[in-house]
Amino acid sequence: MIQKPKGTYDVFGEYGKKILYLEDLLQVLMEKYNYEFVRTPIFESSELFHRGVGETSDIVTKETYDFIDRGERNVTLRPEGTAGVVRSFIENKMYGRASQPVKTWYYGPMYRYERPQSGRFREFYQFGVEVFGTENPLMDAEVISIPVRFYQLLGLKNIKVNINSLGDSESRENYRKALIEYFEPHINELCEDCKNRFEKNPLRILDCKIDAKNPIMENAPKMIDYLNETSREHFNKVQEYLKAMNIDFVVNPKIVRGLDYYTHTVFEVEASVEGFGSQNVLGAGGRYNNLVSSIGGPATPGVGFALGLERLITALDFEKINIVEENNLDIYIIPMSINETNYSINLLDTLRMNGFNCDMDYLNRNLKSNFKQSERLGAKYIIIIGEEEINTDVLTIKNNITKEEQKIHKEDLIEFFDKNISHE
Ligand code: HAM
Repeated sequence: MIQKPKGTYDVFGEYGKKILYLEDLLQVLMEKYNYEFVRTPIFESSELFHRGVGETSDIVTKETYDFIDRGERNVTLRPEGTAGVVRSFIENKMYGRASQPVKTWYYGPMYRYERPQSGRFREFYQFGVEVFGTENPLMDAEVISIPVRFYQLLGLKNIKVNINSLGDSESRENYRKALIEYFEPHINELCEDCKNRFEKNPLRILDCKIDAKNPIMENAPKMIDYLNETSREHFNKVQEYLKAMNIDFVVNPKIVRGLDYYTHTVFEVEASVEGFGSQNVLGAGGRYNNLVSSIGGPATPGVGFALGLERLITALDFEKINIVEENNLDIYIIPMSINETNYSINLLDTLRMNGFNCDMDYLNRNLKSNFKQSERLGAKYIIIIGEEEINTDVLTIKNNITKEEQKIHKEDLIEFFDKNISHE
């Protein structure tokens, strides 16, 4: 039997309902924040991600799905959303709009050739935002607030916000020098990847998963001590604004992030509940003031984040939060025989077009198994259509919960259901 590719999953049943519920909620939420929906292609030229995500990031060095298309172009399935949205911002000249900043949001599948495990897939879905055109720390705080409020709206309790600052180019350069000086005598005690990182981007050593508990790592210089005046001021303001919104956070110097484009604020929101597992970062992001220019656009500051839908659903399950109703069928129609099919399908169609969730028996079941089926579907009402109903247009409506029956003329049916079935 042909099976799904490693690291992917099928959506159906309850999981599908959860996904649809979350997608709806995202739209409502993003309208409240006044963000604009954008969608970019799932594949882009490989160069975009090399320049965007960074040559030294794990994502680009080990995890992209690259291929050469039939026109000999190097293309890559997007491993994340930021680079594509930045490309789109530049290509569509959004920097020239009268209304600034440009606040965008997106949702869709991403692809990383990672070792699959719980909470880590090769195809996964991200919801994210990218904001362009302001250096104001107010925007860093707003962006951090979005996943926090989204998780809280859903009822998650055990979340923790970690923030850090990587500073501007000057601060980073000073820090880079300090790291080189510090790691040089110890480099042979670190893993192979770290040796590479030492050459290319020493900051990324701090992100190593293999050596995370090594005391050499623990005692490394901290970025926060190398921030210059402007960077420190920016970071202080972010914290002040988060406090003004009553958002709890901790400053965690270990957050350096796995992508190369960050400047100033970086953050991760984690599921802090005991036993959640190692993939507990639900969402993450930060500021990237040099990314737009490095992809070829006019120097424009940016800030954003993305969160994984799969990890979110795991976190909801973990905290036993149910976001979907079991079933939501209003009316189930039972034709007594195939002679009533035309009348039944006409009624079904009319009810659906009047806003009700309806279904009918397609299998010519007997009455008893139809009642069972209506229970399985969780139907609120049943309508049985027989010869007499067709002749008189007077229908018997059975309330499937109270089991009460009522006779109602077909013409009054919509009015009856409008009164008795509430639609949120
Ligand atoms: P990221 O930390 O690579 O950042 O991914 C963000 C979130 O996507 C993670 O916290 C996690 O929930 C989810 N995620 C990542 N990889 C996987 C995977 N293999 N399986 C399941 N879920 C995964 C970014 O992607 C940046 N573009 C975020 C950003 C936007 N920064 C600024 N703007």
